[in-house]
Order: sequence, then structure tokens, then C-alpha cells
Amino acid sequence: LDGIEMSVFVLTDGEKYVILPNAKDYKRIGENDTGLNTGGMGCISPVPFADNIFLSKVENQIIKPTINGLNKDSIKYRGFIFFGLIKVNNNPFVIEYNIRMGDPETEVVMPRLKSDLLQLFKASINKTLDQIDVEFEKKNVATIILASGGYPLSYEKGKKITGLNNINKSLVFHAGTKETNFIETNGGRVLACTGFGENINEALKNSYKTANKISWKNKYFRNDIGKDLI
Ligand code: GLY
Repeated sequence: LDGIEMSVFVLTDGEKYVILPNAKDYKRIGENDTGLNTGGMGCISPVPFADNIFLSKVENQIIKPTINGLNKDSIKYRGFIFFGLIKVNNNPFVIEYNIRMGDPETEVVMPRLKSDLLQLFKASINKTLDQIDVEFEKKNVATIILASGGYPLSYEKGKKITGLNNINKSLVFHAGTKETNFIETNGGRVLACTGFGENINEALKNSYKTANKISWKNKYFRNDIGKDLI
């Protein structure tokens, strides 16, 4: 299949479902999608090429048959379904299913959720998802992953991270960090810098502003997240 990938998420109670904001992840380590695969080097939400016509195809051709299929096979499932999709000639195809959220998709999807996540989880357990009004933030959201130089191959840990106290109007999610006398790197993908904007450009600009304020020796990030879509 030759096309462009994106991620769609639902929370289901087994019969009903809520469609969460969609996202596009950038998986390769190098700019212009080159080099080794990683867990994800950046993400944006919403996905500009996922218009209403395409999203209704996703719902009718993929989401509904998936939930019906689970029931037909007597699989009682309540929770997230992550549809890894590819758009080929304006039609969606499933590349993979996961029964979890994505990373770094979560760092752009959850900041767009205005409703209480705990209430959603309760409704999923109690099979009352149809009784809940779920609200989403209209804003665009982007996240840039700051990684240890060398990742996804070998990399050094224990580098002192500075600039974390200098962040405003953005969110910084910790992944591969550890607190000693200071905050230090402790993994390959270290931090996710999430920024907001009225459009994708502004969201990316704010994420990069935050990404550039944070430092450690051999910090690495991609400078081209979202650029293919602008
Ligand atoms: N970002 C892809 C995943 O979480 O599987």
C-alpha cells in the first residue's frame, strides 16, 4: 500500500464508541522520514488531510465493522482501540490495530480532550458511553520528541537537563528522565514538547520554541515535523 499514514483512536464500551482526535506520527529518526524506525519523533493533531468525507469512510468502513466484528467473535472489549491507517487514493486501510493509545500520539490527543477522562473511563466500564457528551479543543496541537543522540541505536544516559523551569504555554511530558539532584536523561526518547496554536504552523512554532529552550549534551530532535503537511 502506497500512501500516507495516520492514527485514529476510539474509546469503546463494547458497543458504543467515542472517536477521539486523530493524529499523525513521524516514526523515522531522520528528517524527511529517513533512517531507522523509532517509537515516534513527533506528532500533530488534527491531521489536515483527514477531511470529513475521509473520516466518515474511516467510521463506516473500519470503526463500525471492527466493533461489530468484536461482538460477532464474542470478544468483550472495553477500552481504547488505536487504528493505524494508511490513506490510499482517498480510501482508508488498516495497517495495524493496538489496544492502547499511541506515543507520541497521546501527547497531542489528550491535550485536546476537554471532558473528564475519568468519566469517560467509567462510562466505558459501565457501558454508558452514549450518555456522555464529549468535548474537544478546536486548537491545533503538535509535539516534538527530544531524544538522546544515538537513539534508536546506543546512546548515553545521565545527561543533566536544563531549561525545564523556563516553559510557558506548552506542556512537557517526561518519558526517559530520572530525578537525582537534578533532572537527567534516562532513556532514548526523553521528553515530548507539546505546543498549541490556531493552526498547525503556530502549534509547531510553539512546540519548537519549547524544544529549543531545553538542553542537554547530545540532545537530538527532528526539525521537520509537520512540514510535509504545510
Ligand atoms: N506511535 C506509534 C505507537 O504508539 O505505536
